[in-house]
Amino acid sequence: MINWYDADGHLSEDMVADFRQTLLTWYDESGRTHLPWRIDKEPYHIWVSEIMLQQTQVETVIPYYERFLAELPRVQDLAEADEEVLLKLWSGLGYYSRIRNMQKAAQQVMADFDGQFPTTSQDLQTLAGIGPYTAAAIASISFNEVVPALDGNMFRVFARLLKIEADIAQPKSRKIFYDIILPIVDPERPGDFNQAVMDLGTSLMSVKTETLSDSPFARFNLSYQEGIELNFPVKSKKVKQVQKFYAAIISEKNGSLAYIQRPKTGLLANFWTYPLVEFDSWDAIYDGVSEHFEAAKQLNITPVTHIFTHQKWQVMLVQVGNEDASWTYLSDVAYEALPQTTLQLKLQAALKENL
Ligand code: ADE
Repeated sequence: MINWYDADGHLSEDMVADFRQTLLTWYDESGRTHLPWRIDKEPYHIWVSEIMLQQTQVETVIPYYERFLAELPRVQDLAEADEEVLLKLWSGLGYYSRIRNMQKAAQQVMADFDGQFPTTSQDLQTLAGIGPYTAAAIASISFNEVVPALDGNMFRVFARLLKIEADIAQPKSRKIFYDIILPIVDPERPGDFNQAVMDLGTSLMSVKTETLSDSPFARFNLSYQEGIELNFPVKSKKVKQVQKFYAAIISEKNGSLAYIQRPKTGLLANFWTYPLVEFDSWDAIYDGVSEHFEAAKQLNITPVTHIFTHQKWQVMLVQVGNEDASWTYLSDVAYEALPQTTLQLKLQAALKENL
C-alpha cells in the first residue's frame, strides 16, 4: 500500500526519499539529458532556453537556441546587440516581447548586477520577463536552489501523485502546490529534480497518458491507484460571461415611484428595484419599449452596467406613462427604509443625472 502521508498527516520521509531516488534514476536513464541546455549550467544559457521554451516546443527550440548562443555567447553581447540582430535570431519563434524583455534583462544584469546573473529565485524575479517559474528553473538548475519550478507539467504530475484537489485555474492554488512540493524537491539535485518532472510530465504522465502498471511511478500515484488519474489536475473552466439587457421602468404616481421586489432566489434575491424588464439586446429595448409601454421615453444614452460573477447587465432607464398591477408605488421615505443593492443605487444616480 502506498503511503505519502503518515498517520498524523505528515509527508512520509521514507516515501519522499524513495520517490526522489526513483525519479532521478529514471531521469538519468530515460530523461532527455542530451538536450543542449542540459550540457552545462551557465545561467545565461539556462535563461535563454527557458524563455524560448515558454511558448515553443523543444524540437523547434533546439536550432534557435544553438544559433542564438553562437551569435551572442555572453549576456553582455545580448545587452549590446542591435535590434535587427535580435529579431533575426528570434524570427519564427513569435511572441517578440520575449526577446525585447530579454535584452532589457541583459542590460539590467550589466548595470545592476555587475554582469553576473543574480543567484536566487527572488533576485532573478527583478529582471524583465522573469516570473516565478523561470526564476525557479534558473535558480535550481544553475545555483542549486531548492525550489520547485511550477509549470503546467509540475501541477499535473503532483496533482495526480498526491491527489491534490486545488483548482489550478485559481491563482491561489499556486501556493498550495508550492508548499506541498517544496519538501519533496531533492536537496542535492534540485535542478535535475525539476527537469525530471518536466520530462515525466511530457512522457509517462502527459495530459492524456494513463499510468501503466509497470511504470516506476505507479506505486507513487494515488489517483492512479484509485482509477481517477485523468480527473487530475482539477481545472475549472472559465465560465463565459452572459450579457443581459434590461429596461428599468420609471413610473411615477402621486410623487411615488414604481418598484418590484425581486424573486426569492437568483441574483439580487428579495431586493427592491425599479421594475426590470428583460430584452434580447440593447437595440431590442429601443424597439420594444414603445410597444410594451405608453409614452415610453429613454432617459440614459449609455447603459447603466452592473457585473455579476458570470453576468453583465446593461440597463436602460425608461420613463413610462402607464402602471402595472405587479408594481408597488413607494414614496422616497418608504423606499429608503428597504435594503438596497448597488445596481439599484447606480440606477437611482443615473435617474437623477438624466431627469
Ligand atoms: N520546458 C521548459 N523548460 C524545459 C527544460 N529545461 N527542458 C525541457 N523542457 C522544458
